[in-house]
Amino acid sequence: MTDELFDVTGKVALVTGGTGGIGGMIARGLASRGVRTYIAGRDAQKAASVADEISKLGECIPLVGDLAEPEGVAALAAAFAEREDALHILVNNAGALGPDSLAESTTDSWDRIMEVNVRAPFQLVQHLVPQLRAGVRPDDPARIINIGSIGGLHIPNWEAHAYGASKAALHHLTRSLAKKLGREGITANAIAPGPFPTSMTDTAAETVRKNVQTYIPLERAGEEKDVQGVVVFLSSRAGAYINGITIPLDGGYMAAL
Ligand SMILES: NC(=O)c1ccc[n+]([C@@H]2O[C@H](COP(=O)([O-])OP(=O)(O)OC[C@H]3O[C@@H](n4cnc5c(N)ncnc54)[C@H](OP(=O)(O)O)[C@@H]3O)[C@@H](O)[C@H]2O)c1
Repeated sequence: MTDELFDVTGKVALVTGGTGGIGGMIARGLASRGVRTYIAGRDAQKAASVADEISKLGECIPLVGDLAEPEGVAALAAAFAEREDALHILVNNAGALGPDSLAESTTDSWDRIMEVNVRAPFQLVQHLVPQLRAGVRPDDPARIINIGSIGGLHIPNWEAHAYGASKAALHHLTRSLAKKLGREGITANAIAPGPFPTSMTDTAAETVRKNVQTYIPLERAGEEKDVQGVVVFLSSRAGAYINGITIPLDGGYMAAL
């Protein structure tokens, strides 16, 4: 039985960075629940092969764009708009790390982190506002879901100056988009994950493992179903009245600090 409250069938989603890690988890969660899911990454071959894999669960279409470049953001939006008139769920998930200590950060690494983590989500929304407007249904807003980080909510025990600032900025941008677009029936919320096992965070590494044991009350890293649950909640009727918040998805890490 499908529970109407959490039903997302028939919607269209775009997940940036859906070619890997948390984005792949989100894409699998949406595609398997009847959402036509577009995934985007920088490499056409990789995107096509990941989309093939996800297509075993549900409809998944690969798109390409380097989000570090405004042209790449525009190209991705144009490729989406060529295929779809309406967008119900935009997941700004792609993210970048870099050398980020006071000693090692450079202009290039700083800019790249800000470009991918803050500028691209904003510009993608700018480009796709017409499709998001077309995705608004009575009693069911179009959704923007930004993937922030607990790194934007606290200062970790390692140096991540630009990354932390970029994620705090993304959480703030989420609120300003919620205010601007809410009146048009488009909500914006952020999810701030703690450690999830991806190519960005090796949760099997000794230091991360210790960190998880020490700081996370649930004593485990995040898993696929954890992020899928929050995205499905936010994307379905159940989450229709949630607007402008950042949800820590961290097993209690932030609460216990
Ligand atoms: N993993 C964690 O523990 C954790 C914790 C908190 C927050 N997050 C956030 O969660 C999001 C996903 O991270 P992840 O851990 O899943 O990382 P990941 O495994 O490294 O995946 C990042 C994705 O972003 C895409 N990407 C990176 N740079 C891009 C660019 N310039 N243009 C277009 N796409 C780009 C990559 O796609 P291609 O390689 O195909 O281009 C890749 O699929 C990020 O925003 C990250 O900051 C992760």
